[in-house]
Amino acid sequence: MAKYQAPKGVSEYFPDRSLYFEYVRNTLIEAARNSGYKLIELPVFEDTELFARGVGESTDVVSKEMYTFEDRGGRSITLRPEGTAGVMRSVIEHNLDRGQLPVKVWYSGAFFRAERPQAGRYRQFYQVGIEAIGLNDPEIDVEVIAIAERAFKTLGLSNYLLEITSLGDADTRGRYTKDLRAFIATLDLDEATVARAELNPLRLFDDKREEIRALMASAPVLLDYLSAESAKHFERVQSGLQALGINYVVNNRMVRGLDYYTETAFEFSHKDLGAQSGIGGGGRYDGLMEQLGGQSLSGIGFGIGVDRTVLACEAEGVPLPQTYFLDLFIVPLSAAAKAAALLLAERLRASGLSVDIAFGDRSLKGGMKAADKSGARFSVVLGDDELSSGNVTLKDMRTGSGEAVTIASLDVHLRSAR
Ligand code: HAM
Repeated sequence: MAKYQAPKGVSEYFPDRSLYFEYVRNTLIEAARNSGYKLIELPVFEDTELFARGVGESTDVVSKEMYTFEDRGGRSITLRPEGTAGVMRSVIEHNLDRGQLPVKVWYSGAFFRAERPQAGRYRQFYQVGIEAIGLNDPEIDVEVIAIAERAFKTLGLSNYLLEITSLGDADTRGRYTKDLRAFIATLDLDEATVARAELNPLRLFDDKREEIRALMASAPVLLDYLSAESAKHFERVQSGLQALGINYVVNNRMVRGLDYYTETAFEFSHKDLGAQSGIGGGGRYDGLMEQLGGQSLSGIGFGIGVDRTVLACEAEGVPLPQTYFLDLFIVPLSAAAKAAALLLAERLRASGLSVDIAFGDRSLKGGMKAADKSGARFSVVLGDDELSSGNVTLKDMRTGSGEAVTIASLDVHLRSAR
């Protein structure tokens, strides 16, 4: 056993699986970039207060799962458990909301929650997220959901489910929680559960215990309380999704794990992933900016779990595209060939191909073994004969067959095989 091991419950990616992770992450990012979202790169730690205010004291994320510590200046710092609060902090701090609206940003990186580790649930995990801030337009809700859906489709996933609901506006929520609280007061609950319900009664729908689930089965549901305006917003979101041919089901008992949600909320889950099946989720958050000291503007976004999306892709057997493999592996056989190999590799790399070389003084056998292990699509052996003739044998590593080509035309051959 190695002397040092990674901390408990973190996910990490090393070759070759890291290529797969990279492909999934890049595909998710590309879906956001080609919809007009621009990168926002934020610190992985923030003042603890930001998450307590933004995400909500009643959530498990804030009350049980934050990595919080005091820095050397005695300030309370927390490793970001999610991305939305930090984005909103940055938007307010840098007045991004004073320009063109909506502000459309994407981010990608590590997030931290001190959860009990299990398959698909990590203490450090990765998300790709987007936020569209500043307009309360149902068509933006549709766009945000469509981006996630398109990203999953582009990856080749099919075995997932999109669930949506509406959590309504402040008026809806006020009338509903009054009735929900009255209902909960009739139940025989333990003290801790009563305390949780006092902070946010909706949390009881999230309770994993069978007996609480059974009690909550007859609770009033929020969708029945939607104000006329919220109902209209939700209808427009649904007709927009239908127009784009996006399949969804309405889940009137969905509870998101973060407190800032209002109006549209959604979750994608994957059917092959077992208990931790949520591959992405998001929704609108109309009070968050004001709550954090900014003006009263709404926003919507999602966070997609890259780790779980990788697991979903593996479960469905999604192949890694050819461009993530090396195009060529060069095996040089002499000192002169080594120098020529570097020149050739750099020329091909500059033209956009990916090329590696067998470094070290290897025998032909050792060099070919390295070529096999490299996962490259093709290999060439470069000896003094090849250098003087200008011809090489381009070996197809899948079939084992070889073709005589000139060194000068290698890039054309490699590109046509992509
Ligand atoms: P969330 O639902 O808490 O939302 O997380 C989004 C996704 O991150 C989940 O669907 C899941 O795939 C992944 N995830 C969460 N926790 C873990 C974990 N412990 N291990 C592995 N993956 C995990 C948010 O974070 C919101 N900020 C999303 C959002 C953006 N809403 C509006 N804008």
